[in-house]
Amino acid sequence: MQIADGITYIGVNDHQIDLFEGQYIVPNGMAYNSYVIIDEKIAVMDSVDINFGEQWLANLEAALDGRTPDYLIVQHMEPDHGANVKLFMDRYPEATVVASVGAFNMMQNYFGTKFEGRNLVVKEGDTLSLGARELSFIAAPNVHWPEVIFTYDAADKVLFSADAFGKFGALDADEAWDCEARRYYFGIVGKFGPAVQKVLAKAANLDIQVICPLHGPILSENLEHYLGQYQTWSSYGVETQGVVIAYSSVYGHTKEVVELLAKTLEEKGCPRVVVTDLARDDQAEAVEDAFRHNVLVLATTTYCGGVFPAMHEFINHLVDHAYQKRTIAFVENGTWMPAATKGMKALTDQLSDIEYTENNVTVKGALNDDVRAQVNALADELVAKF
Ligand code: FEO
Repeated sequence: MQIADGITYIGVNDHQIDLFEGQYIVPNGMAYNSYVIIDEKIAVMDSVDINFGEQWLANLEAALDGRTPDYLIVQHMEPDHGANVKLFMDRYPEATVVASVGAFNMMQNYFGTKFEGRNLVVKEGDTLSLGARELSFIAAPNVHWPEVIFTYDAADKVLFSADAFGKFGALDADEAWDCEARRYYFGIVGKFGPAVQKVLAKAANLDIQVICPLHGPILSENLEHYLGQYQTWSSYGVETQGVVIAYSSVYGHTKEVVELLAKTLEEKGCPRVVVTDLARDDQAEAVEDAFRHNVLVLATTTYCGGVFPAMHEFINHLVDHAYQKRTIAFVENGTWMPAATKGMKALTDQLSDIEYTENNVTVKGALNDDVRAQVNALADELVAKF
């Protein structure tokens, strides 16, 4: 795949992976992107996951047409990209590895060497001439590891953006960017919104025609859309007006109340209602939905005097990923001593910039007229927000 004259895609698709980063389901696999820039000097942009080293080097060799690479630019050392740095440096003993000081410290940890005598440390604003092209480096700390750099090729107007603008899914999967890029963003980068904002501000000064991320498709059209989505996501803005109801239910009674709330919200004109079962659906998708919309209803049963495990896990994800600037309401169920709202509130109190509703719902076992009235009052309060 040709990105521009002299820039070729040499990455790989992974359809064997069960869980990306040990936790995310990836039904359409994963792509580990890598690129080679062929000029008077030749630079390779990042390596790939440990299982694909030889395939990657074969892709590289095919693109090189008998030449040998001069540089391996390592933008990010997480092992889905950094795992084959040593393989490359062993295969090409004349090559120099180019990376931030933080990345070289990580190479010491992973490989026991910083490739002394064959390394070039770069930082924000440094440049590397390949001949007709001059690459410049942009520090992107915490997007999403601290050592990350982006690379800009002004001649071709290409931004190599490390993990930013990446998504789940291999490149041979035919799927929309937004959904799996959003799930990827909030799962993996979501906590680091301020860091993303900083690098977006730097990118705003560049003339970018093509974005080459380390995962997902190369973006060359409608870039305003992708940049706009990153602007919204990293500022914790609301992308879609609506209510997400995230619930767990043991015998179906809490689920029945949730379904009544969803139906009532729709009947009252709520712009969008999303319902997710935290014990059965993908929690990463639920986290994504929570960040996407502006209102979150947490509905669960009382369990061991506190919060049901699936809900506990979900709120922990929200805390870990710095969920903020949203409205939260609670629905609790407890047959003899409902305590889930108190337990959920204790957990969500770790979040910042959250508005709580005046109305919540308490169920004592099953749906009845008292619960219907509470659901109606909560729905009225929520719909008034739109
Ligand atoms: Fe795709 Fe942060 O590694």
